[in-house]
Amino acid sequence: MKIAIDGPVGAGKSTISDAVAKTLGILHLDTGAMYRAVGLTCLREGIDIDNERAVAERCRDLLIGVSYENGAQRTLADGDDVTGSIRTPEVSGAASRVGTYADVRKAMVAAQQRLAAEQDMLLDGRDIGTRVLPDADVKIFLTASAEERARRRWKEMLDKGEEADYGEVLKAVKERDAQDMGREVDPLRCADDAVTVDTTNLSFDESVAAILAIVRERTATGA
Ligand code: DC
Repeated sequence: MKIAIDGPVGAGKSTISDAVAKTLGILHLDTGAMYRAVGLTCLREGIDIDNERAVAERCRDLLIGVSYENGAQRTLADGDDVTGSIRTPEVSGAASRVGTYADVRKAMVAAQQRLAAEQDMLLDGRDIGTRVLPDADVKIFLTASAEERARRRWKEMLDKGEEADYGEVLKAVKERDAQDMGREVDPLRCADDAVTVDTTNLSFDESVAAILAIVRERTATGA
């Protein structure tokens, strides 16, 4: 079984995907983590994120891999476990930027397709239903209003004790939307055969239930 979940930043893709995959007993590949690992490597090595050639060159011999520990994804860059370092706002921006480069996307898409060919999997990202797994059994477009996505991110930051300004968080969300939807290569869009789930007014549990119901409807094996 292959499940594709795409959508904009902050729609809850990662956590919702984790819960859905766990219920179905399949692995979840967070493809954003792979772009983040590329972005982090460039930042660490002082490679100019805006220099497409330099980023593409580094990406050519950079090995982005994943492993699973009790079902949870660990993301590796040249064998280094970078899982704990890829969630900063700086890395988010870098990931979104390197994700606009054709050579980077080519390498990531190929790696994701190889992983998905080996096992049943749920993949979440921006181009899974449109590019990585065009023949996925189930395609979901998970979204919510920009204001609600920003509100959730803002609250998450406050809960972690971080300083956060709602207006700035909303601005960053809109900037990443524009970058992810406006890029030339495989921009974020809803696949023609995807089902849209709008979580603006749904709780986490309701969102998971809505997706499981769609999986059940579309496959004979849905839990
Ligand atoms: O899902 P995320 O926020 O962790 O993703 C980080 C960035 O990576 C996102 O802004 C765009 C890029 N990305 C992508 O271009 N294609 C994917 N399949 C996943 C992520």
